[in-house]
Amino acid sequence: MFSFLRPFIFNLDPEKAHNLAIKSLKFNILPENLFTVDNEQILKTNLFGKEIKNPIGLAAGFDKSAEVYNEIFKLGFGFVEVGTVTPKEQYGNEKPRIFRLEKDRALINRLGFNNEGSEIIKKRIENNVPNGLLGINIGPNKGTKNMVNDFVKCAETFFPLGDYLTINISSPNTDGLRDFHKSEFLKELLSKINEIREKSNFKKSFLLKISPDIEETFIDNIIEISLKNNIDGLILTNTSDRNRDNLLDQKKNEYGGLSGQPIKNLSTKLIKKFYKELKDKIPIIGVGGIDSGSSAFEKLSAGASAVQLYTGMIYKGPTVVKEIKKELIDIIRDKGFKNLKEVVGSDLN
Ligand SMILES: Cc1cc2nc3c(=O)[nH]c(=O)nc-3n(C[C@H](O)[C@H](O)[C@H](O)COP(=O)(O)O)c2cc1C
Repeated sequence: MFSFLRPFIFNLDPEKAHNLAIKSLKFNILPENLFTVDNEQILKTNLFGKEIKNPIGLAAGFDKSAEVYNEIFKLGFGFVEVGTVTPKEQYGNEKPRIFRLEKDRALINRLGFNNEGSEIIKKRIENNVPNGLLGINIGPNKGTKNMVNDFVKCAETFFPLGDYLTINISSPNTDGLRDFHKSEFLKELLSKINEIREKSNFKKSFLLKISPDIEETFIDNIIEISLKNNIDGLILTNTSDRNRDNLLDQKKNEYGGLSGQPIKNLSTKLIKKFYKELKDKIPIIGVGGIDSGSSAFEKLSAGASAVQLYTGMIYKGPTVVKEIKKELIDIIRDKGFKNLKEVVGSDLN
């Protein structure tokens, strides 16, 4: 069905196509069993204290204002991350701001955290109990006087909701945000988050989402500061504002964050580096260029306990999760692994 509709969808402006996808999902009446696969129990795992059916999640940025997460669970995802949500509603950058690089199976976006703001989104989630593990990704408003305060405000708003909160310091489309990868800024941010968490009554998991463009020398400090401040997991990685040289599509020099195939190996390499230091202390969620069972397997064997995708669904449509699950089960069985835990970090070359 998607391959039949794809030429029509790809003729639309990418943001219009996205809005249409959100609208259609609201009317998703397709039965859930259309997206399940045989022997899925081998993919069962635990993430932040909750059992999930499979380790394939939808990455942040698709359901920015938490409108359709329950419909997305129906497509067979093991978990969903909504956001990035900012304290106040925000329009984002000028349009056009999403570009399809078809020749590279990639996207470039410079959306700039367009979302309906924390108050509306909080009410929406309160009124629509999630049917699965839900992550809420938070960030600061553009031009805010104090980014740390914005993170704190969002964290406090969402304490009672969802299963984990992601502190997004890695979008390339908000000026100054990625400075939080530097030790002195990261310490300030994470110690503040840790402080309010300890005072709260909620046992909430906090994750940190990292850029693929960091210098290798940052890794040790990021790990040390994260562990010291009780961060529960790392998401590796967000989009890249570099790596344009080998791209084929003429839109390759659009300003913004690159996602999809061209960042696949970049993020896998970073996962390996982090996993070598972290081992099983806290889980890594691997993101970047996943659109098949083998690309999901690469991330898991590099050390990710679970994975997420976004761009893969744009190119392959909503059945991509089913396809990944089927292929992943075959690979796991062929290689003689008994369960997903055995796969995680099995390739450390
Ligand atoms: C259009 C678009 C919007 C995105 N918006 C966000 C966002 O708001 N917050 C965030 O943390 N990541 C955002 N991302 C990054 C994705 O969550 C993911 O980290 C990245 O795209 C790499 O995965 P992929 O190659 O599977 O797309 C966005 C990505 C795309 C393509």
